[in-house]
Amino acid sequence: MSYYKIDSLEHYFKMYKKSVREPRKFWDKIADEHFTWYQKWEKVIEFDMQEAKFNWFVDAKLNITKNCIDRHLARRGDKTAIIFEPNNPEELAQHISYNELYAKVAKMANVLREQGVKKGDRVCIYLPMIPELAVSVLACARIGAIHSVVFAGFSSAAVSSRINDSECKMVITSDGSYRGNKVIDLKIIVDEALEKSPCVEKVLVVKRTNSKVTMKADRDIWLQPLLDEAVPNNVAEIMDAEDPLFILYTSGSTGKPKGMVHTTAGYMVQTAYSFKNVFNYEENDVYWCTADIGWITGHSYILYGPLLNGATTVIFEGVPSYPDFSRFWEIIEKHQVNQFYTAPTAIRALAKENIDFVQRFPLKSLKVIGSVGEPINEEAWHWYNAHVGGKRCPLVDTWWQTETGSIMISPIPFVTPTKPTYASLPLPGIQPVLMDELRNEIEGNQVTGSLCIKFPWPSMARTIWGDHQRYKETYFTAFPGKYFTGDGALRDEVGYYRITGRVDDVIIVSGHNLGTAPIEDAINEHPAVAESAIVGFPHDIKGNALYGYVILKEVGESRNQENLANEINQLISDQIGPIAKLDTIQFVNGLPKTRSGKIMRRILRKIAEGDFSNFGDISTLLNPEIVEEIKNGKL
Ligand code: WT7
Repeated sequence: MSYYKIDSLEHYFKMYKKSVREPRKFWDKIADEHFTWYQKWEKVIEFDMQEAKFNWFVDAKLNITKNCIDRHLARRGDKTAIIFEPNNPEELAQHISYNELYAKVAKMANVLREQGVKKGDRVCIYLPMIPELAVSVLACARIGAIHSVVFAGFSSAAVSSRINDSECKMVITSDGSYRGNKVIDLKIIVDEALEKSPCVEKVLVVKRTNSKVTMKADRDIWLQPLLDEAVPNNVAEIMDAEDPLFILYTSGSTGKPKGMVHTTAGYMVQTAYSFKNVFNYEENDVYWCTADIGWITGHSYILYGPLLNGATTVIFEGVPSYPDFSRFWEIIEKHQVNQFYTAPTAIRALAKENIDFVQRFPLKSLKVIGSVGEPINEEAWHWYNAHVGGKRCPLVDTWWQTETGSIMISPIPFVTPTKPTYASLPLPGIQPVLMDELRNEIEGNQVTGSLCIKFPWPSMARTIWGDHQRYKETYFTAFPGKYFTGDGALRDEVGYYRITGRVDDVIIVSGHNLGTAPIEDAINEHPAVAESAIVGFPHDIKGNALYGYVILKEVGESRNQENLANEINQLISDQIGPIAKLDTIQFVNGLPKTRSGKIMRRILRKIAEGDFSNFGDISTLLNPEIVEEIKNGKL
C-alpha cells in the first residue's frame, strides 16, 4: 500500500488513522521515498506547542531545487515544466522543458551570486506573472537566499514596508507589467519604494513592456545582459531542513503585515504530497492554477508542488476578462489543461457573463477542478461544477492558509465524495478540531466552533520574521496547545468540514486576505479624518466588499463628501493597493464602542449588511445612542 498516493476511500481512512496514531512514522515514510536528500534526518519532529517551536526532519540536508528540477532531468529532461501563456493571446506561448528550466535557474543563480547575494540574504521579487518570476524564485532557493515575493499589485508604500521589515538587499523587478489592456509601470513603483528602503543595494530589471525607465547608476542593472554572460550550470547550496526558504507577507490584526517564514524540508514534503493527492496529477497531465505567484497559492501550487512532482504547470500573465470573458476556457482548450484551480471570486465574476463564453468550449480535457481562497457559495459551486467540470470532474474545495503552507482540508478526487460548499475531510497528517468559547474541544458531529489544528504539520510557517512573540500570540495563545486558524467551521453529520469564514479582523475580498487595521491606518492618514472602522459585507462577485465608517475631525466638515471619499480611496490605493479600496464610505459622528474602547464591529457589520433586526444588548456600550444614528445615516 502506497503512503504517497491515495487511491480509494478505504485507503484514505487507513492512511488517515495511521497519520494520527503515528504521525512521525507517517511523515517519515513520505519524506523517505520521494525526495533527494544530501543527508537524512535524525528525528522526524521536535516541537513545543507552548513556545511555538517546531523542527521537522531534524538535521536533514537538502536543496529544494534539486528536487524540483535536477531530479527530473534523467527521466523528464525534455518534458515541459512550464507553459507560459502571455497576456496578449497573439503573443506565442512558451514551453520551457525541465532541461531549459535547469539552465535558466542555474544562470540566474550564478547572476545572483555574482551580484553579491549569499545564503540567508533576503531578495524581494516584484514581478508580473512571467517565466522570470518562477526562475527568480527558484534561483534564490538554489543559492539559499530567502525570497520575499511581493504581489505586483501592491503599492510602493506596501513594497517599501515589506522590503524594510526583512531588510532585503536586492529587488528583482521589471520595467512594467501587462494586465488586460493596461500597462503598469512597475519600475516606477519600485523607484518610489526605494526612496524609503535604503537597505536595497541592487535592483535587477527584466525587460517586458518596454516602458520608459530610469536606471539609477550603481544600483539598477538590466537582467538580460547578465544572464547572457552567465554559465548554464550551478552547484546548489546545501540547506538545513529548517533553513528559511521564503518569507511571504500576510495581513494581520495590527497595521504591520506579518512576514510568514517557511522553511525548507517540511514545506517541500507536504506541498509535494498534497499536490499529488488533491489534484490527482498523472505523468502527462497539464495543470493550471490561475493564482498569482505573489500569493501562497502560487508558491505552493504553481511552482513548488507541481515541479516537485515533475508536472507541467501553466503560468498565465493575464486576466480572465481579456480579450474577453472566455479567456480561461480558451486557454484550457489551447493547452489541453487537465487540472484547473481557481478562486470563487473568479467563478462568480465569470458566471455573471453570457453563458456562451464558456459553452463554446467542450473542455473535455479537464479531469479535476479546484477552488481556493474563500468559502465557495452554493450557486457558484453548482455553476462551476456544471459549466466547467461538466458534472464529470470532481470539484475540490481546498481549505488552507498562507500560514499552513499546504492544503489542509480538501476532497481527494475520485476518492472523497464531494458535497457542495464543503471542504470535506482533512488530508492525512492534519488534525483539525473545533473549539468552543470556553476553549474546550467540541467532540462529535453536527457542531460548529473555532477551527484549530492540534498537531503540527511539516509545511506550517515557523515564525513571523523578526517577531516570534507575535507568532506565538497570534496563533498559539487563543487555544493553548493548539494552532488557531482564525476561521470558524462546522462539522456535519459525517464529519465533513465547511469553513464558514473568519472570526477575527481579517476580511477576504475577492480572495485577498485584508486586515482591517492597515486599511484603517491608511484612512486615518487623511488630514480630515479623526477615526475609522472597516467591516466586510456580502458582495455578489467579490464575496465580501469593504464598508468604511469614517469620523471627520471637524463636525460638518464643509468639503464635499464625495471628494473626501475619493481622496480616502486614493490614500488606500497608495498605501496598500487598489484591491483594498472601499465600496461604501459612510461619514459618522461616532463609532459604537465598549467601555474598554473596543469598536463593536459586529454591530457595524449588521448595519453595513442592511440588517437592522437584532443588534443584541447594546446598553452596555459607552455610546449606545450612536447605533441608531449610524443606522439612520445608512437609510
Ligand atoms: C484564509 C487564508 C490558501 C490560499 C489562499 C488564501 C480563507 C481559504 C478557503 C476555502 C473557505 C477559505 C480562510 C483562510 N480560505 N481557502 N476553501 N473555503 N475559506 O490564503 O490569504 O492566507 O487566506 O482564506 O478564511 O483562513 P490566505
